[in-house]
Order: sequence, then C-alpha cells, then structure tokens
Amino acid sequence: QRHLSTSAPARRAQVEKLTVFGAGLMGAGIAQVGAQSGLKVVLSDVTDKALENGLNIITKSLSRVAKKKSPDDIEGFTSNILKNIEITTDAAKAVHDSDLVIEAIIESIKVKRDLFGFLDEKAKAECIFATNTSSLSVKEIAESCSTERQARFAGLHFFNPVPAMKLVEIIKTPQTSPETFEALREVTLKMGKAPVSCNDTPGFIVNRLLVPYLLEAIRMVERGDATPEDIDTAMELGAGYPMGPFKLLDFVGLDTTSYIAQGWREKAQSGEISKELVEPIGLLDKLVKEGKLGRKSGQGFYEYE
Ligand code: CAA
Ligand code: NAD
Repeated sequence: QRHLSTSAPARRAQVEKLTVFGAGLMGAGIAQVGAQSGLKVVLSDVTDKALENGLNIITKSLSRVAKKKSPDDIEGFTSNILKNIEITTDAAKAVHDSDLVIEAIIESIKVKRDLFGFLDEKAKAECIFATNTSSLSVKEIAESCSTERQARFAGLHFFNPVPAMKLVEIIKTPQTSPETFEALREVTLKMGKAPVSCNDTPGFIVNRLLVPYLLEAIRMVERGDATPEDIDTAMELGAGYPMGPFKLLDFVGLDTTSYIAQGWREKAQSGEISKELVEPIGLLDKLVKEGKLGRKSGQGFYEYE
C-alpha cells in the first residue's frame, strides 16, 4: 500500500487533449485510436482537402471496427467516436490547450523542425511534443524547441495501419525526461497499444530491420532476379509474412520509403548506417517521380481501384 505524505510530488497531469498534425495515413489512424480511447482530439493539416481525406480514412476504418464491436449500431458507434475529433487548418488554435502533440506530417526534417519551432511558442509549457518520424533523428527535430520543451519531447512511432498494429516505439533522446517517457507509456497503453523503448538511432528497431529488406526487394526486381508478384508470394508463403515486400511498399507509400532512404543516405556520410543499405534505387525514384506512390495514389508496384 502506498503511503501518502504532504511532501509527495504532485501527481503528473494526465493526457486528456491530444493534437495530431498531419491527416494522412498515419495521422488519421493516430487521431482515430486517440478518439477511440476517450481522448479529446484535434486533427490539423494544411488544407481542408487533406482534412477531408483524413476524415474519410477514419470513417472507413471506424465502420470496420464497428462491424465487430457494435454490429447492431454501426452508425451510432462511428458518430460517437467522431464526436471526439475536431478538425482545423489553424495550427496555433489546434495546439493552444493541448496536453500532447503527435506530429505525423511529411518525412522532412526541415518541415518538421519548422512546425515544432512554431508550436513551441503556442502550446502550454506542460504540453508534451512527440514525432511519429520513421527514420529521422528525434533529437535533431527536438532541437527546434526550447531546452525546457526538449525534456518533454520524444519519438512516438506508430505502425500502419494504426488501428490494427499493436506496436508503438517510444524513442528517448538524451534530453527526454523520465516523466515524459512515463506519460507517453501511459497514453499508448490507454490507446490499447504495446509500447517498447528505443534509443534515437536511424530507424529505431522495426525500420532499421524492415527498410533494408524492402529496398533489397526493389533491387532484386531491378536486377531481373524475380517479379514483384513472385517475390511477394515467396515471402508470404515461404517466410510467413502477412504481406510481401511490394504489397507492403505500396501500403507504406513509395514517397515515404524514398524520403527514409534519402535521409539515411545523409547519415551514411557520418557512418551511422552503412552506405550499401541505402544506395539510390532508380526504379523507386522513377515511380515516385511519376506520382506512383502506392495505394494512396491508386498505383505503385500494383494498381488499385
Ligand atoms: N482499420 C481498422 N481495422 C483494421 C484495419 C483498418 N484500416 N486494417 C485491418 N484491420 C483489422 C481487421 O478488422 C482485422 O481485425 P480482427 O482480427 O479483429 O478481425 C485485422 O486488422 C486483420 O485484418 P484483415 O483480416 O482484414 O486482413 P489481414 O489479416 O490481411 O491483415 C493487415 C491486414 C493487418 C494490414 C496485415 O496484412 C498486416 O499485418 N500487414 C503488414 C503490415 C505492416 O507490416 N505494417 C508495418 C508497416 S512499416 C511501418 O508502419 C513503419 C514505418 O515507419 C514505415
Ligand atoms: P501522408 O503523405 O499520408 O500524410 C502526410 C500529411 O501531412 C498530408 O496530409 C500533408 O498534407 C500533411 N502535412 C504536410 N506538411 C504539413 C504541415 N506543415 N502541417 C500539417 N500537416 C502537414 O504520410 P504518412 O504516411 O501519414 O506519414 C506521416 C509521417 O509518419 C512521416 O513522418 C512518416 O515517415 C511517418 N510514418 C509513416 C508510416 C507509413 O507506413 N506510411 C508508418 C510510420 C510512420
């Protein structure tokens, strides 16, 4: 039993209000699981069209969840959760009374640093900032903020599709305070996720192993070793993966994969990651240039309706 004394430290404020920046594949999923866990969520993006896209992703996913959880009242279940989500393109308004910001915008260090630098001035001093970056240095992103905020800054890396994937990597920088880490662990548990702790190294745990595999699969096709279809079948039936590498590349987004490889190429100069793993791949660059970004654009390695 715990003994309460007057000298006990004040209880840590709980996260009740969550702001998510970026209403794409990941931001929409994070906003949804936040709302499902009872948090008040504000979802922010740069255009109304992007917010509309995010709400579409959420509505489709919620109706899937409702089919299992509330088959007799799918609409009621969905609208009840949507009530917890507000949308806005006004970043300052989105963050003014937030307890936790999760950023899930484009994988660019400059754009992420610009956003956090701006938010640092607008958010409450106690608000925790987290980035969902796949591959960038969390410390370098955090350095766009004040020293005080850097203690309340960490990586919070969700997996796609967020409503279905259980894992969240919590990434600590040398500045991340133990209280911040603990608050993030609590909120991910509340969202029904399984958190693991990682250091701030390129790709953290999952992507450090997964992305080199995905890139090597593209090189196999470039070399003419096998077709995407045969490689997918091989990895699904021979290695037990739920999706082969080309279905997964299309699912993650070829633009996002290309940004990850580009970011790592810079890290390879300083020896943080080996050069061979992130050599440029002509086929990946070509598809991205043609706007073939995977499922989200209707075509990548495969075509989608
Ligand atoms: N919304 C809500 N629920 C969803 C969903 C969504 N968008 N997608 C899947 N689900 C749920 C389904 O309802 C189903 O739930 P139950 O088991 O409770 O019925 C469950 O997830 C499985 O879905 P399905 O039966 O429809 O299909 P499946 O068995 O083929 O699984 C999958 C689909 C979960 C996407 C599976 O194919 C899979 O695990 N694929 C690999 C995904 C992966 O590796 N993701 C990581 C990508 S890397 C990343 O995210 C990091 C990065 O930084 C790039
Ligand atoms: P996406 O392209 O689907 O969505 C990105 C969204 O961010 C777009 O709606 C865009 O309008 C918005 N945006 C861009 N700049 C913005 C700004 N300054 N303020 C607010 N919104 C802005 O991308 P995604 O796949 O959701 O990836 C988002 C982040 O999550 C990236 O850092 C990515 O590396 C990471 N991530 C992606 C996956 C994946 O499988 N796709 C998995 C884990 C992590």
